[in-house]
Amino acid sequence: MLPVDQTLFAAAEAIRAKAYAPYSRFHVGAAILADDGNIYAGCNIENAAYPQGNCAEASAIAAMIAGGGRRITRIYVTGPGKEPVTPCGGCRQRIREFADLDVAVISHGVEGEPLVSTLGELLPHSFGPEHLKK
Ligand code: THU
Repeated sequence: MLPVDQTLFAAAEAIRAKAYAPYSRFHVGAAILADDGNIYAGCNIENAAYPQGNCAEASAIAAMIAGGGRRITRIYVTGPGKEPVTPCGGCRQRIREFADLDVAVISHGVEGEPLVSTLGELLPHSFGPEHLKK
């Protein structure tokens, strides 16, 4: 594992321990390396009104924007089990807003091996901010 990924994994795991997921009991953490050199992390936050829950990636993006970062240069997602915890469809689009298509998304079910994908692989033929500038 790259040193940067070890750092991101540790940040994602530290915040995953704080997840608020009493309904699914599926605790997720995400850590972003941003263009300002800082790491921003977030966990999932569920709600009794289920659709109001936040994914970990959305929380990490909120932390990045609030903290002054503007672009995602790498993102690591951790969750339980052996299978890689890949971002949901909505979160792929959320990441798309702030990342280039060649940005690495590392998906990790912590009892298994991490899966490294690019955002473009996870979200092909996607719609993004540049479409609104034409
Ligand atoms: N979840 C995330 O936070 N990120 C993902 O990439 C997949 C799913 C959360 C949403 C919900 O709180 C729980 O995991 C079960 O779906």
